Amino acid sequence: MKRIFSGIKPTGHLTLGNYLGALRRWVEVDQHQADALFSVVDLHALTVEHDPARVRRLSRQAATLMLAAGLDPDLCTVFVQSHVDEHARLSYILECTATDGELRRMIQYKEKSVRARAAGQSVRLSLLTYPALMAADILAYQADEVPVGEDQTQHVELTRDLAVRFNQRYGHTFNVPRATPPPVAARVMDLQDPTSKMGKSHESGAGIVYLLDEADVVRKKIMRAVTDSGHDVEYDPESRPGVANLLEILSACSGRNPKELAGAYESYGALKKDTAEAVLEVLRPIRERHAELAADPGHVDAVLRKGAERARGMARPTVDAAYRAIGLLPAA
Ligand code: TYM
Repeated sequence: MKRIFSGIKPTGHLTLGNYLGALRRWVEVDQHQADALFSVVDLHALTVEHDPARVRRLSRQAATLMLAAGLDPDLCTVFVQSHVDEHARLSYILECTATDGELRRMIQYKEKSVRARAAGQSVRLSLLTYPALMAADILAYQADEVPVGEDQTQHVELTRDLAVRFNQRYGHTFNVPRATPPPVAARVMDLQDPTSKMGKSHESGAGIVYLLDEADVVRKKIMRAVTDSGHDVEYDPESRPGVANLLEILSACSGRNPKELAGAYESYGALKKDTAEAVLEVLRPIRERHAELAADPGHVDAVLRKGAERARGMARPTVDAAYRAIGLLPAA
């Protein structure tokens, strides 16, 4: 059976981008057809300025939302990254496999380090080594597939390079995984700035639909989405990114093709209205289930405990093998 690994980092409230780009497919497809692991990758949340209490709160909320969206602990493994020491153990080994040039070329590092410096903050070393930890997350489980949005594919490419290099130098240890971005909504854009990704930690929340936003907030955000100067509803991501983004969101929520949808609308207003209702239709059951689960934190804790135990058992043999292969003396 194929093995799948993916994760979400608790740096902000989960967004519609996280759901359409990743989580939805984990629920609808991946957990049914693979031995799948899904993690709240909390160590990754420490790579930028953070508030400890907030990270803790967001980690629990992310886990609860993953279950609310439909991940079933009887079908897949849901756990928190820091509960499984193997991630940090293997990350160091992969830091010893990667080069600093390789890590400095990562788009996410470039963007986030520029942003941090512009805000007068120093750049944490872990922001640079982030992809080694991400590679460890994936390689520790011998994953075949990594279902992620488009913004993460460069990191998965690096993971492949590291796996191949390690295997060539030290003997076959890791499976070489591949990224599997979704066919639609691989990159949901910010509603106020449709040339940049809808991200959890974008400065203003006006262009971001959060999974836990109230219905009227979702409607307002979508109705106020920036469109383009034209009037015709056309699907043209290059020159009409705002409208194309709405069409892609509607497409992802309705199962219809974005080009076909474009032909069905004569005004931006009507497109926005239907997009808002389609999004709400998707979010409603998640919000309801989230409220139920949030009222029973003991249940979520139990799922995470069991998930971490299982994940540990799966990762340990691979990480031990990597330690031996690279030349570390096994403990007697
Ligand atoms: P993160 O937490 O930023 O996002 C979680 C998942 O959501 C996808 N995503 C999007 N997809 C489409 N449109 C968007 N606007 C959008 N925003 C986010 C992301 O591509 C991702 O699939 N580095 C990862 C977390 C991670 C990970 C891993 C993922 C750590 N280790 C190992 C896979 C395997 C991240 O920051 O995702």
